[in-house]
Amino acid sequence: MNEGEEAQVRDERSPLDRVLVMELVRVTEAAATAAARLVGRGDETAADEAAVSAMRAAFDRLAITGTVVIGEGERDHAPMLYVGEKLGAGKGPALDIAVDPLEGTTITAKAGANALAVLAIAGHGCLLNAPDIYMEKIAVGPGYPEGVVSLANSPEENVTALAAAKGVAPADLMVCVLDRPRHAELIGRLRAMGCGIQLLPDGDIAAVIATTDPATGVDLYMGSGGAPEGVLAAAALRCTGGQFEGRLMFRHEADRRRAFDCGITDSERIYRLDDLARGDCIFAATGVTDGSLLRGVSQRRRADGTMVHCTHSVVMRASSGTVRWVQAEHRLG
Ligand code: FBP
Repeated sequence: MNEGEEAQVRDERSPLDRVLVMELVRVTEAAATAAARLVGRGDETAADEAAVSAMRAAFDRLAITGTVVIGEGERDHAPMLYVGEKLGAGKGPALDIAVDPLEGTTITAKAGANALAVLAIAGHGCLLNAPDIYMEKIAVGPGYPEGVVSLANSPEENVTALAAAKGVAPADLMVCVLDRPRHAELIGRLRAMGCGIQLLPDGDIAAVIATTDPATGVDLYMGSGGAPEGVLAAAALRCTGGQFEGRLMFRHEADRRRAFDCGITDSERIYRLDDLARGDCIFAATGVTDGSLLRGVSQRRRADGTMVHCTHSVVMRASSGTVRWVQAEHRLG
């Protein structure tokens, strides 16, 4: 079988039309450019709303039959992109859609680094319908033995195993952790091993993906963040390679109820990549502000005097492993 025939077979087995790859970039570009107008304006809600409505409108133009499984919240609390909402023109196979129209609302409000517009799609039933609660996460890039790190192990065991797999000392590793009081113990234990720690103000989707790119210098991601962000990050790692585990955290009864409403009853379960995003999937992101993954939205004047928005996006597909970096200029107005 030649390469073209193989690609054909792959596409026939996937519910995802490859044409969607570029269509989805249009969706994250729309959300990012809308949110970018509010960078540094100190208004998280306005930035999020701008991204949500631009993303919703862009989805309307797609010939898909999609259902939001990770979105802006439950129907009663979110006017748009709520969990269960149907998206698209109702054509083609049924798809699951996970969105974070503005990953990093605080970053955007404060003009910090790494705000993104993000989405992932997969076949129906292939993305975990994760409740909006915390998830303990651990991630490494590709090229290591399966299970080199795991939430079943202590931070010390994980650091030691990863250092051994890399052929370096634990003190040579750079671990990325969200800068939160709840991580004080984890940070103390990592410091005791001499690891470098990159403390992240916000935005753990980009941080998980950073482990897959040696240029970022991040070897390992650890700590807890949003479970929806965990599913989106897992979808990206399904495309780039790498390992990810997540375990939901139940801090109170309300968390347990939310998980139960999503059909989750096993509170101890460790979710691996395939449990979070199965089968073929497409992940797309556009930078809102400059970050480790993408440059943010900027403006420039073309030679003919027209003003344009410049966007930088990445779109990847699990079945082919293709990662496309898309730079675009959009005429203002
Ligand atoms: P928002 O875009 O909803 O503000 O999320 C940003 C983020 O930093 C996520 O990347 C991360 O998963 C989560 O918040 C961590 O939650 P918390 O700020 O409560 O620690």
